[in-house]
Amino acid sequence: MIKNLKKFLENYDNNSYMYVEYPHKNYWNNQLKRADLEDYLINAIKNNINQNFLYYIHIPHCHTQCLYCTCHVEITKDYEVVKNYFGYLLQEIELQKKIFDKVGIPLSFTNLHLGGGSPTFLREEEFDILHNNLEVFIDFKKLNEYAIEIDPRKIREDRMFYYHSKGINRVSFGVQEFDREVQKAVNRIQPDFLIDRLLKKEIRDLFPKGINFDLLCGLPHQNLHGFKKTIEKTIDYNPDRICLNYMHLSPKFNPHQLEMEKKALPDQELKKELFMLAEEKLSKNGYIRAGYDHFIKEDDYLAEEFKKSKTGWNRLGVVTGKYENILGAGVSSTCKVNGFINYQNTFENKDYKSLLSQKKLPISNYHISSEDDKIREFIIKSIRQFFKINKKDISRIFNIDFDEYFSDTLNKMKEFEKNDLLENKPDEILLSENGKIISNLIASRFDKYLG
Ligand SMILES: C[S@@+](CC[C@H](N)C(=O)[O-])C[C@H]1O[C@@H](n2cnc3c(N)ncnc32)[C@H](O)[C@@H]1O
Ligand code: SF4
Repeated sequence: MIKNLKKFLENYDNNSYMYVEYPHKNYWNNQLKRADLEDYLINAIKNNINQNFLYYIHIPHCHTQCLYCTCHVEITKDYEVVKNYFGYLLQEIELQKKIFDKVGIPLSFTNLHLGGGSPTFLREEEFDILHNNLEVFIDFKKLNEYAIEIDPRKIREDRMFYYHSKGINRVSFGVQEFDREVQKAVNRIQPDFLIDRLLKKEIRDLFPKGINFDLLCGLPHQNLHGFKKTIEKTIDYNPDRICLNYMHLSPKFNPHQLEMEKKALPDQELKKELFMLAEEKLSKNGYIRAGYDHFIKEDDYLAEEFKKSKTGWNRLGVVTGKYENILGAGVSSTCKVNGFINYQNTFENKDYKSLLSQKKLPISNYHISSEDDKIREFIIKSIRQFFKINKKDISRIFNIDFDEYFSDTLNKMKEFEKNDLLENKPDEILLSENGKIISNLIASRFDKYLG
């Protein structure tokens, strides 16, 4: 444990990217002509046809705005708004089906994720229609994981039985914090009974090893005493996986965050202490830390894969089977075909609807990957997920000599080595416990775009 955490954090300004994708969206090159995008995508998919794909669907609607939230949301209580959006979502899926047809060989979708916003906003009638549309190109029997993000405030228990009947096997609860004062400060009052009823035995039995909790640290009024209770309560609920993140603060793009009382926000030091407290308690209670923000039960099959460095990590969390391809639908959805392209749909409803009305993919921003991007992405993800770099593997996979290729970077890393934050061995680089605290800063040294 670091003796003077405050000073340590002052020395290592830890304000770099999360690296759920590389390069960061700010540097995407939009290099191709839009008109050529579709053919490029078809070719990219063909080239990755032997790999697995994840399909993501974004339902942006929520009833109220949680003040910490940086997800792309649209606040409404009017279901007609959701239905209108839903009509366009189906049009997008229809366009994609044509692309998949042109690929000529069925894609292997092994993971389906419904996120948002709040996908629980969709009523069963629309959900059935969505399911029928997806069934045309997704073989539900072959899905390893079919997940949905659950807002516990907004659904009745019977919905959980319905989700199970549709094949969903992973339910991810937005918990964030159990403390009432914190909940008030972020405009998300969520008494425990809301979760209790959705996790009663008959329901829990439907999702064996499939219960996720999302928690946040860095929320207003959080302190060590209260957060300890939150973690203890979480352990009592016994979820199979926990995603514990620092609250990302970006009021420029999320002005509602300014409504949180600034003085009540924990400083950098306290945020780290909250995380470390959680890490310590969870490790003592049967969870292992699987990468930057995930904790999973020791007997979870993902834990086995993680130990063998076979898991993947992306904006949806830790994923099984190391697949790297994500396709999806809905405003703001981020997609990727490994080694070829990263792209994101427009955030604007108006543009989303207008492009789809013209039968065009609603893509607004994209990046054609270079070989160098691919190598650096691999390294940055290794650091963020496994806190290590296997130089030997990287040299073999990408046909380079790691030490030669990154000689400048390794020179810059000497400062980290000197301060025992990492160890540069002949075959691998290992982050120390202190190095893990600033893993995104260490990862940023491999980011070519940051110069
Ligand atoms: C789409 S929400 C979860 C589903 C549902 N809408 C709910 O709130 O219960 C996805 C997750 O993103 C995380 N999240 C939202 N805003 C965040 C932020 N500013 N920083 C880090 N994580 C955030 C939260 O943990 C949240 O549970
Ligand atoms: S946390 Fe969930 S419910 Fe709250 S605004 Fe974000 S997406 Fe909506």
